[in-house]
Amino acid sequence: MAHTRRAILAAGGAMLASSLLGCSRSSTSAPAVSDRLREIPLGPETRLAAAEQPLMLGDNEAPTPAWLYGDSPFPVLRARAGEEMRAALVNDLQEHTSIHWHGVRVPNAMDGVPFVTQMPVLPREQFTYRFAPPDPGTFFFHPHCNTVAQLGRGLAGVLVVEGDEQEPFDDDVVLVLKDWRVAKNGSFLPFLTVEGAARSGSFGTLRTVNGKVAPRIAVPAGANIRVRLVNADSTRVGDLGIGGAMASVIAIDGNAIAPFALETWRLGPAMRLDLALRTPDDGGEITLTDYFAPEPITLATLVAQGQQRRANSFAPAPLKVPNFPEPDLASARNHQLRLSATAVASAYPELAPIVLPDGRKIDMMDAFCATPRTLWAVDGKTWPQAGHQQMPPPILSFTRGESVRIEFLNTTPHVHPMHLHGHTFKVISSSRLTRPVHWADTVLVMPNERVQIAFVADNPGNWMLHCHIIEHQDTGMMAWFRVT
Ligand code: C2O
Ligand code: CU
Repeated sequence: MAHTRRAILAAGGAMLASSLLGCSRSSTSAPAVSDRLREIPLGPETRLAAAEQPLMLGDNEAPTPAWLYGDSPFPVLRARAGEEMRAALVNDLQEHTSIHWHGVRVPNAMDGVPFVTQMPVLPREQFTYRFAPPDPGTFFFHPHCNTVAQLGRGLAGVLVVEGDEQEPFDDDVVLVLKDWRVAKNGSFLPFLTVEGAARSGSFGTLRTVNGKVAPRIAVPAGANIRVRLVNADSTRVGDLGIGGAMASVIAIDGNAIAPFALETWRLGPAMRLDLALRTPDDGGEITLTDYFAPEPITLATLVAQGQQRRANSFAPAPLKVPNFPEPDLASARNHQLRLSATAVASAYPELAPIVLPDGRKIDMMDAFCATPRTLWAVDGKTWPQAGHQQMPPPILSFTRGESVRIEFLNTTPHVHPMHLHGHTFKVISSSRLTRPVHWADTVLVMPNERVQIAFVADNPGNWMLHCHIIEHQDTGMMAWFRVT
């Protein structure tokens, strides 16, 4: 098995810059007709080829050696709730990968976590994911090993699962937020830095929506449109607001909620927010702004074009009520999970690799999908754990059908977007952020905050639980739970 990932981390930008020289094709020469994402129609077996592609970012001097599914960033797949979809991941990279369908309640074998739910998909191999997404909504997909580099280089896509609209919208716009850690010459900066990993993460140097800096996207005028915001960044928490139109929140992490007016919304890594809005008249503009930064920054602009589609006053129609098992809070077992920095930053001595009978070696750190240094812990335990030469034991074990309440207690001065696999949970209370009770798969836990979530552990298997600031995940803030 090739182990290129540490070499890549070590070599940083230099190696990437040299790989650029070999690229002759540029996907950026054609003028952008629209800055919408490319949609890949779902067929009997849709191919998602993970490969390096030159990508021109902003006004950089040269393209960036991005890793993409296909030849443009963040392709959008549209499936229908309850109907089987198939997607074949073809690995044209030099290192192994997999696809995790973030937020989708898939069967365990389709969850895409190397060494936990499947063997990694090696270079030149392929793996077909096949499942019927049970719930409609806005989801995304990404790798789950060496995520810091793979997601950092752009390897992610959007899965829209249709079937939640009671009234059709006039348009549906997907906006993917991602910052890139790139130098002016297009080469990548290191994805993991000790300073970043030990604090809020290493921020990107170039902010984009749909891979473009401040794109302008045409939308129909005087129309009811749905905007699906996806935060695919590894690090950045946005405080997003809309200017130039009234916007209502209609879904959180893809799950319908009774519409309420958007003021601003804290959208952490991996979180999604669906908005309904009425566009202005021809020529009018709607801005998507991040107010979290010291200076508010306009991330994207929607430009209304054409004849006004609707004359009535705007009242966003609610989406269909989601259909999740309701946790029984009276009987639920309570668990507290403390999020903390590890007392001592421990560097793992090189663990001896496993040697297979055919002579191939499996690198232990690679099997844990971790870096050899840990900085963070869930409930006092880091991933992987010192001294263990195998998977650590599950942090929690549930009997199938059991109602569970988990309280995250953040004892650190940093924000942690906590994500559970295989289950959609209800965010029932939080001590610092005000938000309605809602269903989610990722929840922000602010510094010194307590957040309670509840769900029915009804999906059998081994499921990851981790922070979605990828440098935190890759330096210890990850665990797993078991449902049997
Ligand atoms: Cu979006 Cu475990 O991941
Ligand atoms: Cu974190």
